[in-house]
Amino acid sequence: MSTSSQIFSFIFLVLITTSFTTTITLGNNHIEEGQNHLATVQITNSLPNNNSRPTILKIRCSSKHTNLGEKVLNRSDDYRWIVEEKSLYFCEALWGRLFASWHAFQPKRDAGHDSVFWLVEEGGIFFSWYNSSWVRRSVWESE
Ligand SMILES: *[C@@H]1O[C@H](CO)[C@@H](O)[C@H](O)[C@H]1NC(C)=O
Ligand SMILES: *[C@@H]1O[C@H](CO)[C@@H](O)[C@H](O)[C@H]1NC(C)=O
Ligand SMILES: *[C@@H]1O[C@H](CO)[C@@H](O)[C@H](O)[C@H]1NC(C)=O
Repeated sequence: MSTSSQIFSFIFLVLITTSFTTTITLGNNHIEEGQNHLATVQITNSLPNNNSRPTILKIRCSSKHTNLGEKVLNRSDDYRWIVEEKSLYFCEALWGRLFASWHAFQPKRDAGHDSVFWLVEEGGIFFSWYNSSWVRRSVWESE
C-alpha cells in the first residue's frame, strides 16, 4: 500500500466512525425527546382458578386526557401501558358482579419509579413498585 492510499484509508475510516457515532447519538436523543416515559403500569389478573367462579376480568383505565378503553384479561394475563402524561390514571375492574376501582398511577406517589405493578386478586387490588411486597389498595364491592 502506498503512503497516500494509507492516508486515504485512515481518513475514510475516521469519517465512517464519526458519522456512525453521530447517527447513534441523534437516534438516542430522538427517542428521549419523542417519549416522555414516566412509568410503566402493569395490571395482572391473579384471580384464583375456580370452576364455579368467573376468572375473566374487565379493566377500564383513563386519565384526564387519555382513555385506554376496555381490556379483557384472562387469568394470569397482564395488561401494561407507558404513562407519558403527568396526571392521575383511574382504573376500574369488573369481576362477575363485583367491582373495584383505584388510582393506577398517581404523579405524587409514583414519580421517580420505573414501574407500578397491580395484582387483581380475590382479596382485592394489590400495589407494588417492585413486583414484590404487595399492599392492598382497594377491595371488591357489589355493584
Ligand atoms: C370456589 O368458589 C366457590 C363459590 O364462590 C367457593 O365456595 C369455593 O370456596 C371456591 N373454591 C376455592 C378453592 O377457592
Ligand atoms: C381468553 O381465553 C379464552 C379461552 O381460553 C380464549 O378463547 C380467549 O381468546 C382469551 N382471551 C384473551 C383476551 O386472551
Ligand atoms: C413479576 O413477578 C412475577 C412472579 O415472580 C414474574 O413471573 C414476572 O415475570 C415479574 N414481572 C416483571 C415485569 O418483572
